[in-house]
This record gives sequence, structure tokens and C-alpha cells, in this order.
Amino acid sequence: MSNVQVPKAEDLWKGDKPVFDPSKVTVVFVLGGPGAGKGTQCALMVKDYGFVHLSAGDLLRAEQERPGSQYGDLIRHYIKEGLIVPMEITIKLLENAMADAMANPPKLTDPKLEAGWENGKGRFLIDGFPRKMDQALMFDKVVCPSAFVLFINTDEDKMTQRIIERSKTSGRDDDNLESLKKRFKTFRETSMPVVDMYRKEGKVADIDSSVPIPQVYEQVKAALNKHLSF
Ligand code: C5P
Ligand code: MG
Repeated sequence: MSNVQVPKAEDLWKGDKPVFDPSKVTVVFVLGGPGAGKGTQCALMVKDYGFVHLSAGDLLRAEQERPGSQYGDLIRHYIKEGLIVPMEITIKLLENAMADAMANPPKLTDPKLEAGWENGKGRFLIDGFPRKMDQALMFDKVVCPSAFVLFINTDEDKMTQRIIERSKTSGRDDDNLESLKKRFKTFRETSMPVVDMYRKEGKVADIDSSVPIPQVYEQVKAALNKHLSF
């Protein structure tokens, strides 16, 4: 693992403009601690708003399992330790997944939602990202400036109960108490500064996820209606 070279951002993104035009491509970041309910809320938004949902953690786990990936062991190590994978890997996975979706827009039955993907337009939920300041600054600069942040959060006791429940079926290496403690620490120390930065820019919608799923979703819909024009 130690001899795997991660390419440098300046070699990966050479243009002076982001890859996607934010006047056409809407990116909503979905942040919150482990077990806060990000994935659950994203699934609801996908149905009602025609977003494509990209979970950074899911993309990393898929890359970890992809035969021939040179980053499999590196990613496995970072995830188990609750650490943030080097940003170049995660940002490239997200960019590739966004390009795929732009080339093959989702099939939507509602014409109003379909219009969100016409004429080079697209809308994305980027879940579990950015978790570290360098990721945030780099993604906004080279991939696509984000519209706003849904910050879905509750207390660590609740999140712990949810992860323990999820661990019965998730098959995830990091859904155990030892990894979870490290993930909370990384979240507090490394990810919260990102939320605070966006908060200063007026780009954070706070969502209390201590309440039942439909009530969380009511808050989410209100935030989308406030921050987006669709
Ligand atoms: O979001 P999720 O809980 O699926 O993320 C699992 C792990 O993937 C994180 O604990 C971290 O190790 C890694 N990750 C990362 N950078 C991100 C998102 C996830 O390094 N932006
Ligand atoms: Mg998730």
C-alpha cells in the first residue's frame, strides 16, 4: 500500500475552469455524521426531484472492490481507520460518475423532472462529501461549484444506535464500535470545519434528523425549495 502513488491534483485537472458549468449543473452537498440519515434522505430526493445520487463512500467501496484497481488496499485501510482517503482519488471518482450521468441521463417518467436533464443540464446529490477542507476547495474549483449544503445531523448516541442496527446487514468493515469512534473523531475534527466554512458563506441548511424520517424529509424539502429554483 505504501508504494502506491496517488496522482497530484495539478496533473489531473489542468484547465482554468471547472469541468461542469454551475449554471447548468446543480450540485447539492449532503453532509452529516455517520448514521445521520444522509442516504435515506437522498433516496427520497432522487424520487421527487430527479437528482442523481452519488455517495462518495459508496464510490470508494466500489473502487476498493474493482478488480485491477491500484487503490483497493489503500482505500480499505483509510475506511477501516475512519480516515479521509486522499482527495484526488475521491474527486476523480465523483467527476467520472458525474460525466457518466451527464452522458446517460436518468430515465424519468415525469416530464418536469426530465427537463432537469435536458440541454446539458443535470442535478446531483453528492453525499458524504466534502469531508475535509482540501476536498471542498478542490471540488468547487475543478469539478463544479456547489449550490448549497444540506447538513443532516443528530447526536452521536442516536447515530451510534443506527449504525449498530445497520451493521447487522450492511457488511461494512467500518460499521463496528471501534471504527465508528474513529469516524466520529474525524467528523468532529476534519469535517466540521468544512461545514463551518460553508455556514459562513450562508450555504448551509441545518436538518435535524433526530425525528422520524418523514419529518426529516419535510425539513429537507423546505431547504431545497428555499435554496434552489426547481
Ligand atoms: O460516507 P460513508 O460513511 O459511506 O464513508 C465511509 C468512509 O469512506 C469514511 O469513513 C472515509 O474513510 C471514506 N470517505 C472519504 N472521503 C469522503 C467520503 C468517505 O475518505 N469524502
Ligand atoms: Mg451513506
